[in-house]
Amino acid sequence: MQNFSFYAPTRIHFGQGQLAQLAHEIPPSARVLLVYGGGSIKVNGTYPALLAALAGREVFEFAGIEANPEYETLLNAVSLAKSAQVDWVLAVGGGSVVDGAKFIAAATRLDVGIDPWLIVGNRTPLHDALPIGVVLTFPATGAESNFASVISRRATQDKMSFKNALVFPRFAVLDPQLTCSLPPRQVGNGVVDAFIHTTEQYLTFPAEARLQDRYAEGLLSTLIEVGPRTLADSKDLDARANFMWCANQALFGLVGAGQPQDWVSHAIGHELTTLYKLDHAQTLAVILPSLLRYCFDDKLLKLAQYGRRVWGLVGSDVDVAHAAIDATVDFFERMGLPTHLASYGLNADEVAQAISELLPKHKAFPLGERAKLTLEDCVAIVKMAG
Ligand code: NZQ
Ligand code: ZN
Repeated sequence: MQNFSFYAPTRIHFGQGQLAQLAHEIPPSARVLLVYGGGSIKVNGTYPALLAALAGREVFEFAGIEANPEYETLLNAVSLAKSAQVDWVLAVGGGSVVDGAKFIAAATRLDVGIDPWLIVGNRTPLHDALPIGVVLTFPATGAESNFASVISRRATQDKMSFKNALVFPRFAVLDPQLTCSLPPRQVGNGVVDAFIHTTEQYLTFPAEARLQDRYAEGLLSTLIEVGPRTLADSKDLDARANFMWCANQALFGLVGAGQPQDWVSHAIGHELTTLYKLDHAQTLAVILPSLLRYCFDDKLLKLAQYGRRVWGLVGSDVDVAHAAIDATVDFFERMGLPTHLASYGLNADEVAQAISELLPKHKAFPLGERAKLTLEDCVAIVKMAG
C-alpha cells in the first residue's frame, strides 16, 4: 500500500427531511449567497423548503450556473458576493453548482490584485475562502464533500480543476427525495460517473491495498444493483439512497487512498465536453472501455480481479478480463449511455485530431498509473473509441 494522508471534514446529513439541518448549520446572523442552476430546484419543490429552512437569514440569490460551470458566469456571482458582503455560500444543485460555489468562495476572498482565473489549475496560493454549504440534488461527482472543483472557460477552450482544502464544504445535505425529479439521462450519467470514479482508482495494478480494493468492489457491485432500479422507478427511494451514497463515497477519498490511480478517462473526457458539449459521464462511457482495451496487458491482473469479484466471471485471467470489459460496456449502455463516438455523431479521426491539439494544453505527459501514456497513446485511445 502506498503512503497516504486522509482528511474529510464535511459533515454529511443523509436522508429524507434533512434539509431542516440548514437551520442548525448556517448561523442565524449569516448573509448567505444562495447559488443554483437553471431552475430544477424551482420545479421539484426544493426551493420553498430551502427558504423555510433559511428563515431569518439575509439571503441573496444567484441563479443560472450552467452544467460545466462557466468562469464568466461565476465572476458575476463573485461580484454579487462582494457587493452584498455575504459570509456564506450555499450551493443547491449538482456537481456544477457545487464546483461553481467552490470557485465563488475562493475568488471572493482572493488577495487583492490577483487574477481569479489563476485559481483554476492551482496557479496562485489561496489564503482564505467563504464557508460553503451544499444541498445536493444530483448524485454523481462527490463534489459535495471533496476539495476539487472543475471550471470551464469557453473563450479559451479550457476545462480545468483546482483543489484546495479551503473549499471542502462545511456540510452537505443528501436527501434522496430531492433526486426524484432527475430525468433518466441524468440518472444514467450519475451512475456511470460514480462507477468510473471508482474504476479510475481501482483498475490499475495490484498494490496490496486490500480494503480499498474491496471498498471499490462494493461500490461497483452496489451501483450495478441499484443503477437500473433507479432508472426504472423514480419513486424507489431505497435505490436512490444507495445510489446517492455510492456516488458520494466514490470520490470521498477512501477508494483511492494508498492506491495507484489513472485519471486518463477524465483527462480526455474533459476535452470532449469542451469540444463537443457531451455530458461529463457520456465522455467517460466512451473513453473508459477504449482505455481498458488499449492498456489491457498493464491492467490485466486488476481487470481479472474485477471480473471475478464484481461480475462473478470464471475462466483464465485473459478471458475474464475481456468479459469484464464487455460487461462494463453493456452496463453503461443499459444505463442509457452510448459507448462509441459514432453514437454521438462524431468521427473518431476528427476527434482524435482535435484532442491531439487540446490535450497537451492541459496535461503534462506521460499519464496513467504507470506514468507511461504519451499523447500518441491518448490519440490512439480516442481513435479506438470510434
Ligand atoms: O441547472 P439545473 O436546472 O439545476 O439542472 C441540472 C443540470 O441541467 C440538472 N439537475 C440537477 N439536479 C436535478 C436536475 N434536474 C432535475 N432534478 C434534479 N433534482 O442536471 C443537470 C446536470 O447537472 P450538473 O450539476 O452539471 O451535473 P453533475 O453533477 O454531473 O456535474 C458535472 C460537473 O462536475 C464536474 C464535471 O466535469 C462537470 O463540470 N466534475 C466535478 C468533480 C469534482 N468536483 O470532484 C469530479 C467529476 O469527475 C467531474 O469532473
Ligand atoms: Zn467524473
